Amino acid sequence: MSGAREQFGSRIGFILAAAGSAVGIGNLVGFPVGAAKNGGGAFLLMYAIFVFAICLPVMMAEMSVGRHAGKDPLGAYKAIGKNAPHWNLAGWLSIITPFMIAVFYMVITVWIFGYLSAAVTGDLAELAKPDTFSTFINSPTLFIYMAVVVGIVYLILQGGVKEGIEKAAKLLMPSLFVMLIGLVIFVLTQDNAMAGVEFYLIPDFSKITAPVINGALSQAFFSLSLGMGILLTYGSYIDKRADVPNSAKLVALTDTAVAFTAGLMILPAIFSFNPDTNPSELSESSISMIFTYLPEIFLALQSSIGYLGASAVASLFFLLVFFAAITSLVSIFEVPVAALMDEKDMSRKSALFTLGVLMIVMAVLCALSFGYVDALTSFVSYAGQPKSFFDIVYDVFYETILPLNGFLICIFVMYRWKKANFNAALEQGAESYKGTWLEKYVDVSVSTFIPAILLVIFVNTVAVKYF
Ligand code: PHE
Repeated sequence: MSGAREQFGSRIGFILAAAGSAVGIGNLVGFPVGAAKNGGGAFLLMYAIFVFAICLPVMMAEMSVGRHAGKDPLGAYKAIGKNAPHWNLAGWLSIITPFMIAVFYMVITVWIFGYLSAAVTGDLAELAKPDTFSTFINSPTLFIYMAVVVGIVYLILQGGVKEGIEKAAKLLMPSLFVMLIGLVIFVLTQDNAMAGVEFYLIPDFSKITAPVINGALSQAFFSLSLGMGILLTYGSYIDKRADVPNSAKLVALTDTAVAFTAGLMILPAIFSFNPDTNPSELSESSISMIFTYLPEIFLALQSSIGYLGASAVASLFFLLVFFAAITSLVSIFEVPVAALMDEKDMSRKSALFTLGVLMIVMAVLCALSFGYVDALTSFVSYAGQPKSFFDIVYDVFYETILPLNGFLICIFVMYRWKKANFNAALEQGAESYKGTWLEKYVDVSVSTFIPAILLVIFVNTVAVKYF
């Protein structure tokens, strides 16, 4: 595409858009339940350390590469990597990964939208039935919801960076904060809520085992939208005077604050609406929490605040999750869109159309892999288990490739772009970065132990998952 590169219109717009990407299903449900079950305050502490000690420097690397190159991830790897074939490969990985993760995130967003519609129409009893979820994900109405979600994402991205992504973030993120705070206040004023707060926060260091540590780091990495080329792409839409270290800090802080606050909504709700809760039976999977467990909880609320009240609370909850999912979906879809615009000189319109069609085909395949079509339900098998198309996308791209991409960007900035250039890029536009301890820390960590840890996670996942 010719002409000047699109840009965010304001610093706050960029930060809200990046935070909008980061705040997602992982924060609202995954983190709270994971924390509650794996050591409470102890988990929170460890998570916060990972966010700032490991993820923040990676985020700064992604943003500064994007801003410096002014290109999509593939273009950035090509330009800074001077067209070395192996770095081009890393560039490809960082646009294929977001596309594939977008496919599975799209399917989940479609489910959320379906549940939102059901909650709004007041059918909580139906939602809470044990087999509603499996029936729903295999019903043809799913495709109607899919059309709506694709339409919303399409419309936002069609508007471009400033009029689309930034405007949507400026509208959706503040609404999300307000809804979250409203729900927290409501939940905390209910009977027995404090039992949930205790369960969530009391530190239990004995729960911190190796798999919990690994899980906390992966959760932090995913939650900050790292390894998907997103912050690199968004970074390419800010100008050279923008303060990368500070923006990254704000995004990490917002994301962590939302995750923490969501815990003050989810756990007390579970304990208050359902006083017989047996904590050890809570599932850690966000999917089963959102689609089977929480609807039961909302239904239980009917006895105390009535049919309308309970439907309102449930609708608000699904709307909150839906807003969070939409801003994440928009961010991840923008990566391949930017790549087609930059690399193939396509207009935003044709890039969106091409990828939209491809995305729908893949999302339909994913959606059909829950029983509809046998060949997709047991697509391949590894580690002795048949895996559906959806499972593969999740295992390969989310669990395996993300840490690899994180490893690659660290090595790339330090050893291909070179430390001095990376550092100069971070200093450019930053108000107080030069000479700080953070600068020294980034310098040492990104060149040594952060990539080492990410590589270990990658190798370990490969060994455990596929053999
Ligand atoms: N950060 C998002 C979350 O916590 C994850 C995500 C972002 C997924 C962008 C896809 C795209 O849920």
